[in-house]
Amino acid sequence: MAEDPLVAAARAVQARAHAPYSNFHVGAALEAEDGRVFVGCNVENASYGLTICAERVAAGAAVAAGATRFRRIVVVTDVDPPAAPCGACRQFLVEFGTDIDVEAVGPKSSRRWRLAELLPATFDKGSLS
Ligand code: THU
Repeated sequence: MAEDPLVAAARAVQARAHAPYSNFHVGAALEAEDGRVFVGCNVENASYGLTICAERVAAGAAVAAGATRFRRIVVVTDVDPPAAPCGACRQFLVEFGTDIDVEAVGPKSSRRWRLAELLPATFDKGSLS
């Protein structure tokens, strides 16, 4: 069976990860409601705390292109069980709604959640008023 195009996009961008410190390569592909796909990889820095995760790179690219409504994100790593998005990325994505499928893909397995499951009590725009 042909590979899911979103998984293929996440795998392709994983190869571009800049991860000389952790050597942990992550690729993310985010599908917008209009069908466009935005990709990101982790970008590490010698000043470690400046590192940005693959998911946030993908979300930033989407927003810069005018997309803020999303259907699905695929995150590819080289570990099993496949790594789920970190807390910061969950929060970053929740900004755009909790109705997103999140799929983590590793070499041998995958797992899937709704973003609402991964971050059940959100801090969002509504929390500010
Ligand atoms: N990383 C991501 O890209 N996404 C996550 O959700 C978790 C962690 C990256 C950050 C860092 O470059 C490396 O993985 C190890 O933490």
